[in-house]
Amino acid sequence: MTFIIAIDGPAAAGKGTLSRKIAKTYGFHHLDTGLTYRATAKALLDAGLPLDDADVAATMAREVDLAGLDRSVLAQHHIGEAASKIAVMPLVRRALVEAQRAFADREPGTVLDGRDIGTVVCPQAQVKLYVTASPDVRARRRHDEIIANGGSADYEAIFEDVKKRDERDMGRADSPLKPADDAHLLDTSEMSIEAAFQAAKILIDAVLNPN
Ligand code: CDP
Ligand code: CDP
Repeated sequence: MTFIIAIDGPAAAGKGTLSRKIAKTYGFHHLDTGLTYRATAKALLDAGLPLDDADVAATMAREVDLAGLDRSVLAQHHIGEAASKIAVMPLVRRALVEAQRAFADREPGTVLDGRDIGTVVCPQAQVKLYVTASPDVRARRRHDEIIANGGSADYEAIFEDVKKRDERDMGRADSPLKPADDAHLLDTSEMSIEAAFQAAKILIDAVLNPN
């Protein structure tokens, strides 16, 4: 049976950074499920199609090519906004969850990060982490990331955006963001990337090598 690590949490908590490091360390496949929502949103925007038609959006979601997800293209702010709007639609979620579950079965193991991996996509995951950090720390991280990539950013606007994204992710009826009952909470507000990784590694190793 394949080994599944589920990593959930709010925007800019450090899920992707942690997931990539874990996948590399253990030789597992990694899927950033946020990219599947972003890719669907981008395809709709590129085709000039509306974002508020669930049937149209779900048809687009079924076409998403997991192998072709390009982080650099999909990172733009307006795509993230559009993604969080179509992510409230049950039909869109159903189509993407199906593709995510197929990915999760890959051998020898997988790391999936998102909002509902431990609760809905892979409730059977052997390790579940709920990675979080305070909204101001997350906004600061997003801000610094944009500056480091040569962009310009307004901290206050990003902070408001982070709070709005949290409300939408936690408040939706279908698959809201919340920790699974059996998830380990990892608050990285005061943690470096390396410290968060070491904390995660201890939890994973305890399941992989129980003795
Ligand atoms: O990087 P950021 O956290 O802003 O966004 P993301 O992880 O790329 O996800 C984009 C949007 O897709 C989020 O705002 C979520 O609303 C949605 N999403 C979701 O609903 N379920 C997932 N498993 C992953 C993302
Ligand atoms: O995937 P998610 O939106 O949860 O976050 P991310 O893209 O992995 O991390 C957002 C930013 O925070 C990146 O620039 C990371 O390098 C940074 N980060 C950090 O400074 N300290 C941590 N403990 C985790 C992430």
